[in-house]
Amino acid sequence: MNVFKKLWLGVAASAVLFSAPASSQQGVGDVVYVPTPEIVVEEMLRMAKVGPNDYLIDLGSGDGRFVISAAAKGARAFGVDLDTYLLRVARKNAEAAKVSDRATFIEQNLFETDLSKASVVSTYLLPQMNLKLRPKILALKPGTRVVAHDYHMGAWYPDDQRDIVVPEKKVGTPGVSYVYLWYVPARVAGKWQSQVSAAGKTTPYELAFDQSFQILEGTLRSGADSAPIRGRLNGENISFITQPKGSPGGQRHEFKGKVNGDSIDGTVRIGEGTAAREAKWTAKIATRGELKKASDDIQE
Ligand SMILES: C[S@@+](CC[C@H](N)C(=O)[O-])C[C@H]1O[C@@H](n2cnc3c(N)ncnc32)[C@H](O)[C@@H]1O
Repeated sequence: MNVFKKLWLGVAASAVLFSAPASSQQGVGDVVYVPTPEIVVEEMLRMAKVGPNDYLIDLGSGDGRFVISAAAKGARAFGVDLDTYLLRVARKNAEAAKVSDRATFIEQNLFETDLSKASVVSTYLLPQMNLKLRPKILALKPGTRVVAHDYHMGAWYPDDQRDIVVPEKKVGTPGVSYVYLWYVPARVAGKWQSQVSAAGKTTPYELAFDQSFQILEGTLRSGADSAPIRGRLNGENISFITQPKGSPGGQRHEFKGKVNGDSIDGTVRIGEGTAAREAKWTAKIATRGELKKASDDIQE
């Protein structure tokens, strides 16, 4: 099944499953308590490569399973929930797992949680809650990982996804968990002044990036040459190509680099096959642009 179909099935399923008002022990707030199956938690943490250098925040932490499993991998982890009963259960579970020093839980509305220290954010929330959180998540440090169980982020398509067969799962799509991973993309929308240096010669290039989440389009210009850009961001890593037609020297360009705020450094492969050569490439921001809204996005 393609990703779009699954995403929309997720929306339909959520309307049925998560609309009941919550009481204590069922979760409190905007979505009822349904735990993520343990094997799904483990797979999501594996996809996000959670380890000792991480700081994970689980938004709506339930019985604490994401936070406790992340802490067991050496990460510091933090959960917020509004259900005081579940918060007590989570703290007890953390004690039992001997990770209380790295696993903390507080009573807080997840929409008010400061995410700035997170290297990983996990959610099992309704799609409209994910969408409400999306601008805050997109403003986090590039490369921050986001993992979500069953529900999507609208037109911010995942960088990775898995379907996990979970026969005992009764909610969402019974028997299957959909899990999604995103990397917060660096912001590169706008115009950049760039230089390509090879064999002692430096050539100025102008790059104009249109950015829709991690997807890049735009135009490369150098002198009278002009070619469309196609590319993507993976956190702070940028890659894009131009085809020979319109490119400088009529040669395909394949750029790779690292975005560091207002500058980019990397390498560019010019030409194809054995005739291709590699050059160094740098860029500085000239004018910042806005993220483009994808035409197929849904209401936030
Ligand atoms: C579907 S459960 C997920 C629990 C856990 N993250 C897991 O995957 O096993 C959602 C949790 O979010 C909590 N919750 C709902 N709305 C919230 C809000 N606005 N702020 C904080 N927690 C909230 C509920 O109490 C519930 O425990």
